[in-house]
Amino acid sequence: MGATAGIARLASAWAANSPRLYERTRLVDVHGEPIKVRRLAAQTNYVFNYPYAATPCFLLDLGHSVAGADALLRTDGATYAWSGGVGERRSVVAYSAICAHKLAYPAREVSFIRFQPARSPTSDGNVIHCCADHSVYDPAAGARVVSGPAPQPLAAILLDYDAERDELAALGTVGAEQLVEVLAWRLRFAGRLARLQNHRGIRRKDVTVVRNKERSVGSLLKTNEHSTRPLGAL
Ligand code: FES
Repeated sequence: MGATAGIARLASAWAANSPRLYERTRLVDVHGEPIKVRRLAAQTNYVFNYPYAATPCFLLDLGHSVAGADALLRTDGATYAWSGGVGERRSVVAYSAICAHKLAYPAREVSFIRFQPARSPTSDGNVIHCCADHSVYDPAAGARVVSGPAPQPLAAILLDYDAERDELAALGTVGAEQLVEVLAWRLRFAGRLARLQNHRGIRRKDVTVVRNKERSVGSLLKTNEHSTRPLGAL
C-alpha cells in the first residue's frame, strides 16, 4: 500500500471511530418540560427523535450502573468505544432505535424493536429486541449484537447529564449511523426526496421524549397517544 493510500485509510478509520457531534439538544417531555432523570421509570421504553425529526432513538434507564464498552465493531471494520451510562447511577443510556438489520424502527402505530426487560421465547431479558427478524442487542454493552442477523451495533447517542438540574441533553452519536439511509427511504416513500438536501434544517434545540406504552400484543408497542407529534413525522 502506498503512503497516500495508507494515510487515506488511517484518516477514514479515524473519521469512522470519532463521535459525530450535532447541535446540543435538550430532552423534554410532551409538555416541553425538561426530562428529569430521577423521574424516569426504570427499564421502560422512551422514544425521542435525534438528530433529525425522522430518526427515532431509545432513552432507557436500565436500573443499574452501566460501564462503557470497547472494541465495538462496525461492518466497515472500524472499531469504536462507548463511554457507558450517565446520571447519578450511570444507569441511563440512549441508542438509535433503527435496527441495524433492515432498518425497522418505532412508529406511532406499532414498533418491532424495543427494550424488553423480561425473557421472551426468542431472547433473554434486558435486551433490545427487534422481532422483525429477531436481532438482539445488549443495551448495557454499547448495544452490541447478542444474536440475530444484525451486522453491527445500534449507534449510541452521546448524552450530557447536568447533575445540578438532573437534566439530559443529546450531543451526537457514536457507532454506525443509518440516519441518512432512513431519511432517504422515508423521503423517497413520501415523494419528497428533495427535502433530503435540506435535512440539517430539521434539527431542533429541544426534542420531545415520549414514553412508550406496551400493549398486550406480543412484542409490539405503541407510542403514547398524547405525543405532541407522531414519531417519524417529517
Ligand atoms: S429489521 Fe430488525 S432484525 Fe431485521
